[in-house]
Amino acid sequence: MVSSAQVVPAAPSMAWLDKQLSPDQRAELLLNAMTQEEKLSVITGYFGVQAEWNDYRFKEARRQSAGFVPGVPRLGFTPQWQTDAGSGVATQREAPPDLERTALPSGILTASTWNPPLAEKGGAMIGSEARASGFNVMLAGGVNLLREPGNGRNFEYGGEDPLLAGTMVGAVVRGIQSNHIVATVKHFALNDQETGREQINVLIDEPAARISDLLAFQIAIEHGDPGSIMCSYNLVNGVYACQNDFLLNQVLKQDWGFKGYVMTDWGAQHDTVLNANHGLDQETGVLKTGKYVWLDKLAAAIRENKVPQSRLDDMVRRVVRTLIAKGAVDDPVKPAAIDFAAHARVTQADAEEGIVLLKNQGVLPLTAKDQRIAVIGGHADVGVLSGGGSAQVYAPGGIAVPGLGSKDWPGPMVYMRSSPLDALRSELPKATITWQSGSDLKAAAGAAQKADIAIVFVTQWTTESLDFPITLPDEQDQLIAAVARANKRTVVVLETGGPVLMPWLEQTAGVVEAWYPGSQGGPAIARVLSGAVNPSGHLPATFPRTLEQLPRPKTTAPTGPEGTHFDVRYDEGAAVGYRWFAKKGFEPAFAFGHGLSYTTFAQSKLAARVEQGELKVSFTISNTGKRVGKSVAQVYVSPAAGGWESPKRLGAFAKVELAPGASEALEVTVDPRLLANYEPQRKAFRIAPGAYRITLANSARDAGQSVSVTLPERVIAPK
Ligand code: BGC
Repeated sequence: MVSSAQVVPAAPSMAWLDKQLSPDQRAELLLNAMTQEEKLSVITGYFGVQAEWNDYRFKEARRQSAGFVPGVPRLGFTPQWQTDAGSGVATQREAPPDLERTALPSGILTASTWNPPLAEKGGAMIGSEARASGFNVMLAGGVNLLREPGNGRNFEYGGEDPLLAGTMVGAVVRGIQSNHIVATVKHFALNDQETGREQINVLIDEPAARISDLLAFQIAIEHGDPGSIMCSYNLVNGVYACQNDFLLNQVLKQDWGFKGYVMTDWGAQHDTVLNANHGLDQETGVLKTGKYVWLDKLAAAIRENKVPQSRLDDMVRRVVRTLIAKGAVDDPVKPAAIDFAAHARVTQADAEEGIVLLKNQGVLPLTAKDQRIAVIGGHADVGVLSGGGSAQVYAPGGIAVPGLGSKDWPGPMVYMRSSPLDALRSELPKATITWQSGSDLKAAAGAAQKADIAIVFVTQWTTESLDFPITLPDEQDQLIAAVARANKRTVVVLETGGPVLMPWLEQTAGVVEAWYPGSQGGPAIARVLSGAVNPSGHLPATFPRTLEQLPRPKTTAPTGPEGTHFDVRYDEGAAVGYRWFAKKGFEPAFAFGHGLSYTTFAQSKLAARVEQGELKVSFTISNTGKRVGKSVAQVYVSPAAGGWESPKRLGAFAKVELAPGASEALEVTVDPRLLANYEPQRKAFRIAPGAYRITLANSARDAGQSVSVTLPERVIAPK
């Protein structure tokens, strides 16, 4: 008898297309109809760019795209067209005008909104552009924790706290997938620096990982239900993440019950057998000249019984089931028109809510008294900065400042064409607004001196594949100092990928963190400055005062010959960001959770109780000022007996909009895992019985108000 794997029936069974059947049943029927070659082909993805370095392959790939996985035409199974990333439909290397797309603000800005429904709307918008651009897989949902403030990819992620990052990124994923396409949560796991990202071996113990970086992924997966997960380039405890049985098989698939598929980061596959047996389901980013680990090599490994056939079937089942379950099969993607005007409103709404007012000594919002305004620096006359690398979206209008950054990967540096200066002028038609580029310190100071208020824009480009010192480049600190000497009413607007040091902080009257604000960043910044928008962004990451306050003041770089691994031990464990600062008693420049408003809020009636085993916290927020505003209530939890990595963790949060004089009673439930430690011997989280302090506060440093609650012991299985 011939094995069924080699038989190609003349008329293939198309029963799998029956929409009445469940995705599991359909996947099974499809799998059974596939030849071995067809199975191998849906688990192998190619770099999508049609360039000389990619041998101009795969005409079916979308232009300048991240990836392409061939379909199975004989059986009517769709190809997989993959695009980056979390801020919108990205284009590799450069974009002709027809590939320009709406850019959401950076992920860290969206996290700063603390507003999951808004993040979901942004996700739905970029997902719709992915679909309209012919993509059915969006490589978006970056949730690596901000452990290293200098990480060049912090802008893509959701900050330093597992609850906030997981919730916000999960919301974006939900939005993307509402378009019947697959989203990919990445980079699993502990891929927290770019320096030596393919050689770094992160060492961390399991309990710490489970309540920090892994918890961020777990929460994002619970909220977003992503179809796929991308494993990362680095090693974790001695094993590459993409062939890490612990991460992929035990944690992700077994403990968390993940039913989707695991794809490699582009080229992160290393070993045919280990990748296959340790939980990888799809290799991606294959270049003709590059390495691939499956196809004929996997077929041979199966023949030699090094990989069971059932493992290949499981990979294929996971891939096809996911595409069916998410709707990408029954609702095939096809290029369509994009409503750029409507999408501009979506990205602007996100930007307006995620810009953080860090400091305000009575200078903002701008008033009628600010007749003469000196705007200086940061190319604010033409655009706003964005982060580089595979996530780069080319926004409508092209590059505002051509020729910056390297021509090759990960360049160029892209300023999007959305001018804060122009937007300020239209917001404030009666004011005289002057412009100085900032390249001439004397001229900048001169303009500031003649003005009622000076607004200095400063920028730091960050990108995938590089890490950065957390100091503003190009002598911009000196520019701020010079302007602040000339005018006491100096406001600094930062466009950065993550936290930076502010040696000039005491000399300035106002500081605004605008992150990379996306393709409508200009008007969003202008409207926050003018007061048309009342700022409500809050930091998703701690801004240190000095480098010495960090667990690792210097990024560890490889020292050995090319390709050798190097260890970075996360001695801080789960004490990431504010948890580290709280444990050490360090005072940051700006705390996690901090963010000012043009109105004032009061918090009252704090109470905590256990109901059906869940910790419920209730309180009232009132707007005690004169403007409509949004408050972010933050609930921190602390065990009276200690025993955590830090004296406090964020346990829950809620954002609420209030008219002047209005109050609202709110109740939040604390995720029990945030009250627990992870105990590997039980394979479970455990809440220790005893007294806990519940604090309602405006930031991780704010004393706020507290109540005490007694919790019974509780053991929580990982899922
Ligand atoms: C990045 C991924 C990205 C992939 C495809 C890799 O360099 O790390 O985040 O999805 O390329 O562009």
